Amino acid sequence: MKVKKAVIPAAGLGTRFLPATKAMAKEMLPIVDKPTIQFIVEEALASGIEDILIVTGKAKRPIEDHFDANFELESNLKEKHKTELLKLVEETTDVNLHFIRQSHPKGLGHAVLQAKAFVGNEPFVVMLGDDIMNDEVPLSKQLMNDYENTHASTIAVMKVPHEETSKYGIINPEVEISKGLYNVKNFVEKPSPEEAPSDLAIIGRYLLTPEIFHVLENQKPGAGNEIQLTDAIDTLNKTQRVFAREFKGKRYDVGDKFGFMKTSIEYGLTHPEVKDNLRQYIIDLGAELSKEDKATKK
Ligand code: G1P
Repeated sequence: MKVKKAVIPAAGLGTRFLPATKAMAKEMLPIVDKPTIQFIVEEALASGIEDILIVTGKAKRPIEDHFDANFELESNLKEKHKTELLKLVEETTDVNLHFIRQSHPKGLGHAVLQAKAFVGNEPFVVMLGDDIMNDEVPLSKQLMNDYENTHASTIAVMKVPHEETSKYGIINPEVEISKGLYNVKNFVEKPSPEEAPSDLAIIGRYLLTPEIFHVLENQKPGAGNEIQLTDAIDTLNKTQRVFAREFKGKRYDVGDKFGFMKTSIEYGLTHPEVKDNLRQYIIDLGAELSKEDKATKK
């Protein structure tokens, strides 16, 4: 069966970006001029996804507005012949988006469970908004390609520094059955470095079979007293194979302040409007900083 649907959980409170996220959805924070959630939606479309469900919560209205038509703005841009800007604005409305609210934030597993009726009896992709991925073939598409061969759930993973395992779901790999594709013994949510079975961390892309919903409905709260998607995947793996695909492209963690800044700089360095000035600015700043460093070392 072809994978056509994606679910983007976006109900998180964004506490890592307070006070900016007190009244604003963290998914709307821009990387230069594009809200982070738009990168995720664009990856879904580039992968051939046809329908996207965004699971939202309080203060998330701007996400809906962002992907809706804005007649006032569009007619203003038309009148002023600002065709390039008009194109940018119109592009964001050309998507089959659906929204559902998660009224109680009970964890990622619970957010994904809200998608049960939307997904029905089909395989689907879950895409987390904190991770922006860059590779020749979009990561969601890589998982969809795996599904065509295995007809099984496949979770994207990536090597992380060992001391950071407690920030992630970690897999216990069994065998590498083909290049970068693993059989998994078990999945553990946020283990300490002492307990982590490997350094292969779950990053924000999952291809799941619909059987996950049955597991989620019966899933007890786990780490952080939340209903964890990782725990449900571990249970699913006991009745049907769940594979892990190691991602070799570039991952940007925009859910973290430093990660967000690095992403903004790197994306800025490719952005036609600002790249030249930004590059020169970084070179000049670097020279100034190394002068400062030398002076303090004297
Ligand atoms: C979630 C998942 C975790 C995964 C991570 C990837 O954690 O629960 O398994 O490794 O996303 O970003 P969160 O970042 O929401 O704490």
